[in-house]
Amino acid sequence: MSLKITPKIILCISLFGIGMTGSGGVAFADGWDPRFSATNIGSIEQTRHNLTLSYNNSSNAFLMNSFRNNYGETCVYCHTPHGANTQINAPLWNRTINNADNYSIYDTPTTLGLEGRLNLPGPSSLTCLSCHDGTIAIDSVLNMPGSGLAPGSNLRNLEVGSPNEDFLNRWVISNPGMGPTGNHLALGPEPGTGTGGGCSICHNINSDSLPIPFAPDFSAFILGTNLRNDHVVGITYPTTFGPGIDYNEPEVIVPGKWSFFDSNGNRFAEKDEVRLYDSGNGPAVECASCHDPHGIPSNGPGTEFIPSFLRISNSTPNSNGIGGPSGLCLTCHAK
Ligand code: HEC
Ligand code: HEC
Ligand code: HEC
Ligand code: HEC
Ligand code: HEC
Repeated sequence: MSLKITPKIILCISLFGIGMTGSGGVAFADGWDPRFSATNIGSIEQTRHNLTLSYNNSSNAFLMNSFRNNYGETCVYCHTPHGANTQINAPLWNRTINNADNYSIYDTPTTLGLEGRLNLPGPSSLTCLSCHDGTIAIDSVLNMPGSGLAPGSNLRNLEVGSPNEDFLNRWVISNPGMGPTGNHLALGPEPGTGTGGGCSICHNINSDSLPIPFAPDFSAFILGTNLRNDHVVGITYPTTFGPGIDYNEPEVIVPGKWSFFDSNGNRFAEKDEVRLYDSGNGPAVECASCHDPHGIPSNGPGTEFIPSFLRISNSTPNSNGIGGPSGLCLTCHAK
């Protein structure tokens, strides 16, 4: 999908160009850009995963309605109570996904030998990749808010593959001003892997020098479909432990479901506990092993979420002593 920037949009963007300063090309170690307007405290509503942008009170947020449908509800970009995607075993998944074999997987094992344990990304990675591989429109849901799938039509979206744009365009027909026609953008290509449209046409490291107000840089958030340069996912975790195996043993193992590092010892997988998902090949590392897409308070209710939606901090311990320098990595790796 290529971006159509019309003169009207350019005008609209430049009219908003007030008081936007800041040095171009700043990258922040923990991924949290202080110029981003959500507070990252309280709930997913105050995070980057609120794609309604309701936390942004400036008129700039309205501009975004030219690039993705604004469904006015946060959860719906990912979940639906009914009519969820039948092709993925993920909680009431409301998005078009890509097939697992669409991805190139990690293939440079150096330690234990990954042969026979490398699998394609499982459901708890395909969810994230349905936005973060950069190819599927951010607003490509199966069931729009309100009654029915798409308001006032028999159209359906696709569960796997490319979104049905006619379906997505039905939203703006019923809700003028709350979406574009034909501009349902995906995040865009992984930096360095080609050009093309997508949100990153503006949300990139050079945004300060574009004729638009500052737009937060998303480039680091686009993983692409080549996962060779990302922490391995789909890999089956060791199931024997002890001398010579430099992996820690999860306290709780529920065959066919998951294993987890039960830091508070209550035998329940809390969201701040690292887990391995079993989708048929034994307990495996997936995106949601390390990340919770709803955000985890860094130190009890009301505190800022751990950066990068991580389940435990990789830098700062909380008051229970969980997390700390490399704390996430050392949960699994006995190094
Ligand atoms: C034509 C350029 C352009 C495109 C394309 C674009 N954006 Fe934006 N975006 C902006 C600008 C400018 C802002 C305003 C930032 C501000 O002033 O708060 C913004 C704001 C945002 C914000 C809020 C940032 C904040 O700090 O409040 C989010 C989130 C966002 N855009 C997401 C997206 C997504 C997702 C897409 C693709 C579906 C997209 N944008 C496409 C230019 C763009
Ligand atoms: C950006 C996508 C996204 C948004 C937005 C989102 N979720 Fe989720 N949610 C997920 C994913 C992915 C999972 C599965 C995580 C896993 O694999 O364990 C999930 C899992 C869940 C679960 C199952 C238990 C758990 O925490 O893993 C519940 C309940 C849930 N979400 C509720 C909500 C509600 C309510 C909202 C809106 C307030 C919401 N989610 C918004 C992505 C999202
Ligand atoms: C509905 C699309 C969507 C889904 C599904 C989704 N994300 Fe995101 N995510 C985004 C967008 C868009 C951004 C960047 C938005 C911004 O900066 O405002 C983002 C940002 C992030 C960030 C950067 C946060 C930061 O502050 O540095 C992380 C980490 C992340 N996502 C991880 C995940 C993981 C892991 C999953 C699955 C469990 C997931 N996302 C599922 C759309 C999605
Ligand atoms: C083994 C743990 C682990 C797994 C598995 C994992 N991540 Fe991450 N991810 C991290 C850590 C740690 C960071 C923070 C990096 C930093 O602060 O520089 C991160 C950062 C990110 C970011 C923010 C960009 C950045 O570089 O800061 C995104 C987006 C993201 N992960 C998405 C995903 C997706 C999608 C998957 C699955 C394909 C995934 N992650 C799998 C640990 C993991
Ligand atoms: C949920 C468990 C888990 C977490 C958390 C985790 N890893 Fe891993 N990691 C694995 C598994 C399993 C492998 C597969 C390697 C193998 O079996 O040889 C792996 C592989 C690796 C490899 C490649 C080894 C090879 O053979 O090429 C590196 C490097 C690595 N991890 C670093 C990290 C870092 C850095 C972090 C923290 C950001 C981290 N891991 C967090 C489970 C984890």
